[in-house]
Amino acid sequence: MIPALAIENLTQDYTTGFWRKRSLRALDGLSLRVEAGEVFGFLGPNGAGKTTTFKILMRMQRPTAGTARILGCALDDLAMRARIGYLPEQPYFYDYLTAREFLLYCGVLCDLPKQAAAARTETLLAQVGLTEAAAQPLRKFSKGMLQRVGLAQALINDPEMLFLDEPMSGLDPLGRREVRDLIARLRQQGKTIFFSSHILTDVEAMCDRVAILHRGRLVESGKLSDILKARSNELEAVISGVNETALAALRGFALELQPTPQGARVRLRSDRDLARLVDITQQAAGRVVSLNPVRESLEDLFVREITGQVNDP
Ligand SMILES: Nc1ncnc2c1ncn2[C@@H]1O[C@H](COP(=O)(O)OP(=O)(O)OP(=O)(O)O)[C@@H](O)[C@H]1O
Ligand SMILES: [Mg+2]
Repeated sequence: MIPALAIENLTQDYTTGFWRKRSLRALDGLSLRVEAGEVFGFLGPNGAGKTTTFKILMRMQRPTAGTARILGCALDDLAMRARIGYLPEQPYFYDYLTAREFLLYCGVLCDLPKQAAAARTETLLAQVGLTEAAAQPLRKFSKGMLQRVGLAQALINDPEMLFLDEPMSGLDPLGRREVRDLIARLRQQGKTIFFSSHILTDVEAMCDRVAILHRGRLVESGKLSDILKARSNELEAVISGVNETALAALRGFALELQPTPQGARVRLRSDRDLARLVDITQQAAGRVVSLNPVRESLEDLFVREITGQVNDP
């Protein structure tokens, strides 16, 4: 099957400095593929090259080297452009238009007949929770509200594929959840979503696959379940109803022990230590509430990959 996005060896050099010009390689031979129907997380610290990639894909700048195809088409294919949507990292809005007027304008720009654009505008306003504020000028909108307008405009042409540069930025926890739900609905409709984010819990909740970029280079990519390594045989037990003496005994061999209001969260090296934990807990008339293998979080992975890279000479 034709990938939704195929990036080959993309490289971007910027010239920086005023008196002493220097060249900065913001993207260094980036290659990746996103399959149709995937929600793909594009991750990396500040300055990694994420927005640069989006700008190249949206033809806002030309790469120094490399190519990319979207939905099997060359980047300058206008028919392909009509099948995608884009939320820039820092969208610019016409301050004096209302949210409704702005979306209608975007719809007409996308060649929708006026009535279809109006109907689509109302649907999207409702989807991003802005129906009540739709008649207000955009200059009165908060950052989070503007972000929702940006998302709505990216969807105006009912695109097959969405490019979202930091879609969660500026949103409060409730707003983030709404965007997460919206992305889940879009995925159910079979859309492909390529998005960048710093909020790793959101990425973890939404993505099929991720790519991690650092200093313009791809440091890891793949299915989250494959790249989040199980940390050897470690286990995490949650226990309750134990006394201080029991906790002191557990501290003797646990890798980590965090007291909780009911008892403690204990990390063990392997199941050999588990029997000891169960003994001690039972003797103290406590309970083992849960037991789980310890898996690396996306946060841990991010730190591991990035610090690993930084330490490289
Ligand atoms: N127009 C430009 N001219 C010169 N340097 C630039 C330009 N745009 C970006 N850069 C530099 O290129 C690098 C990559 O920037 P980019 O905006 O792509 O990163 P990012 O991954 O989107 O970061 P963030 O998470 O902060 O949004 C940075 O070092 C940045 O300073
Ligand atoms: Mg960026």
